[in-house]
Amino acid sequence: MTGPRHRPDRGPKHTGRKGPTGPPRRPSTTRPPEVDPSRQVALDLLAAVRERSAYANLTLPGLLAEARLSGRDAALATELAYGSCRMLGQLDAVLQACSDRELADLDGPVLDALRLGAYQLLHTRIPSHAAVSVTVDLVRAGSRPGAAGFTNAVLRKVGAADLAGWVERLAPARDEDLIGYLSLATAHPRWITTALADSLGDANDLEPALAADDRPAGVHLVARPGGIDRDELAAEVDGTPARWSPYGVYLPQGDPGRIEAVRDGRAAVQDEGSQLMAVAAATAPLDGRDERWMDLAAGPGGKAALLGALLAERGGELDAVEITPHRADLVRRTVRGLPVRVHTADGRDPGLPEGEYDRVLLDAPCTGLGALRRRPEARWRRDRGDVAGLVRLQRELLDSAARMVRPGGIVAYVTCSPHLSETEGVIGRRPRDLELIDARPLLPGVPQLGDGPTVQLWPHRHGTDAMFLALLRRA
Ligand SMILES: C[S@@+](CC[C@H](N)C(=O)[O-])C[C@H]1O[C@@H](n2cnc3c(N)ncnc32)[C@H](O)[C@@H]1O
Repeated sequence: MTGPRHRPDRGPKHTGRKGPTGPPRRPSTTRPPEVDPSRQVALDLLAAVRERSAYANLTLPGLLAEARLSGRDAALATELAYGSCRMLGQLDAVLQACSDRELADLDGPVLDALRLGAYQLLHTRIPSHAAVSVTVDLVRAGSRPGAAGFTNAVLRKVGAADLAGWVERLAPARDEDLIGYLSLATAHPRWITTALADSLGDANDLEPALAADDRPAGVHLVARPGGIDRDELAAEVDGTPARWSPYGVYLPQGDPGRIEAVRDGRAAVQDEGSQLMAVAAATAPLDGRDERWMDLAAGPGGKAALLGALLAERGGELDAVEITPHRADLVRRTVRGLPVRVHTADGRDPGLPEGEYDRVLLDAPCTGLGALRRRPEARWRRDRGDVAGLVRLQRELLDSAARMVRPGGIVAYVTCSPHLSETEGVIGRRPRDLELIDARPLLPGVPQLGDGPTVQLWPHRHGTDAMFLALLRRA
């Protein structure tokens, strides 16, 4: 027999296969091997994402704290955990090529370990023998110790080539099927690669756009007007004033949760693209009264807080609508002290006076394809089937926004997605009395905004999330 031998004191042979062998037992006579805590945290995160559909970015901080990891250990755990989540489909394609069993038939914890091992082999400088042995140790120390040999065998095959070699072997030829090739090479589901390609228009831009999704996003802070000055915040956090947002600061490093101005609500974490959307919604030219604003889909409240802070300075008020009660509570917490009323209601029929609002922001629920770099697992969780239902909701919300805004007032339609169905598709079928106005002058200094009148930002062009903005005036 070739391959690793199983020790007799390890109970029934466990091969990683789901099966009738009953609950796996941990051997009682030997001490489990010591495992590396950073990798254990990464493995726990993969399990949480797989088993209970956890959000990686919300779950990891708790796991790091529980394991008391900080500094370099925390950085390694984060890189391995987020990286494995992002690359999941690509890792699975390689693992499947190295396994004689269907990945779908493997026990979840074994699959998690394989993914973590494959990520280290293909995407880090960790030497192959170390990547394999620490992963095998994790399996030995875990709930499926009998699958250690199987894990070892599969990972050795993975390590026999580098990423470029695997892409060459498994992806379609680049010049015959660019979308298929880049989908595997940059680990995106094909429908998402296609959606980005359609929105970009320029095939040369596709690879940089996909690559930007695979790099972690920088942290941007917003200095809330009336709370703290942008330059003061930049000096306080050793950051740099943002290029375009008058309230933005780039945070070079460190935990934003420890910044005093963030803790007391004078500042917050907010992507510069989101700040620009709120500022454009607030400053688009308008005749007459300009003090009654609405945010029609407000949770968790980042833009509502910026709008509320601007209104506090000029003596106006914002009605913020959010359908999900716990997200409405998040909005309440975020806008504390600002002139914002929060309503837990359906934006399609919020029960507020129609034709009364000077400005309505509709930051619509969407696929979130514009923020994939922030949500490591999101690209594998979303489905192309989600798009039609979201587009229907977006159109109904836009109809409602058109009813809520007063004649001459402004509606800002925003998505955190560049998917054409959610952006130009919705705007193309807008209510008749909403006239498109050129959004580009409302983002002064921002380059590469195309032909207008709508605006599409991109991570690879602007360093922001891929936010879309259409500004509309009610006739
Ligand atoms: C893109 S998020 C808004 C982000 C927010 N503007 C911010 O900056 O923090 C969209 C929000 O719309 C909410 N939503 C979904 N359907 C809704 C509806 N029918 N009415 C109101 N809100 C809705 C979602 O729960 C989600 O919180």
